[in-house]
Amino acid sequence: MADQAERLRAIVKENMTNVNPARVITITSGKGGVGKTSFAVNLGITLSKMGQKVLLVDADLGLANVDVMLGMIPKFNLGHVLLGEKKIADILINGPEGIKIIPGGSGLYKLANLGEKKLTQCLEHLNELEKTTDIILIDTGAGLSKSVLKFVLAAGEVIIITTPEPTAITDAYGIIKVIAGTKRELPIRVVVNMVKNEKEAGEVMERLSAVTQRFLGMDLVRLGFIPSDTVVPKAVKQQQPFVLSHPRSAVAQSVMEMANQLISGDVPITTGPLSFFERLLGVFKQVDQTNENIPK
Ligand SMILES: Nc1ncnc2c1ncn2[C@@H]1O[C@H](COP(=O)(O)OP(=O)(O)O)[C@@H](O)[C@H]1O
Ligand SMILES: [Mg+2]
Repeated sequence: MADQAERLRAIVKENMTNVNPARVITITSGKGGVGKTSFAVNLGITLSKMGQKVLLVDADLGLANVDVMLGMIPKFNLGHVLLGEKKIADILINGPEGIKIIPGGSGLYKLANLGEKKLTQCLEHLNELEKTTDIILIDTGAGLSKSVLKFVLAAGEVIIITTPEPTAITDAYGIIKVIAGTKRELPIRVVVNMVKNEKEAGEVMERLSAVTQRFLGMDLVRLGFIPSDTVVPKAVKQQQPFVLSHPRSAVAQSVMEMANQLISGDVPITTGPLSFFERLLGVFKQVDQTNENIPK
């Protein structure tokens, strides 16, 4: 076991020397259906248009649907890589504007159970991929599950999506509380989706910030808001990202502003010397898998 860990570290070190590790941003929420996937896809494409090399990882175990939103049908997923049938390069989907997508993330969960040889190979390929990437966006499932937490723990940054619905705000606080308890140094950005107007977004942000400040002593960063707009479900139906089908819409403009903010602000990047996939493997091994749900 110690041997294996050492060898993995050596591989990672060798691969990552002189390379800026990619920024890893997990996109998550307390409640489902708040717009994580729409946001992740459109943000990824926008960042890519701005010159960033973007890798989008579809890590929603239950409802992996980045591919569906883009009208793409992946033939293979990470599971095939883990079985040794495919290379990472073979399963990557080339999305619009040069973004790359790792489809249907359930295979990621098998990483921890791989034998040493396959694991080493797999990590080498993933590290290779990370070398040519600026930003890795992870679209996760909703809720306080340990699998979501693993991605949050391995990432350097997190974006929480909420809507003005009281249940969505309460659940957003729930996940912020868990993050605060496990990885307090992580900068937490919030996006308020499906708002009537900026005023409503401000009120939601205030409510969430107040409880977070009062009970956790932590500040949240307001990344932005997205208005509720029929353009979004229309685009989903057409399997066309709205930043491409309706680039002048208010929703597309909001995403552009947030992308801009993400790459222009000086964000403390808390990645450390290990590659993202190495850190992910570490937390997969650490976090106890017996009880999927974390009590609130
Ligand atoms: N800003 C918005 N305005 C209107 N509808 C939206 C908006 N954002 C998301 N939706 C709709 O909400 C539904 C859920 O979005 P999705 O991105 O799949 O959420 P999640 O990934 O959080 O489950 C989709 O039908 C989508 O069209
Ligand atoms: Mg989703």
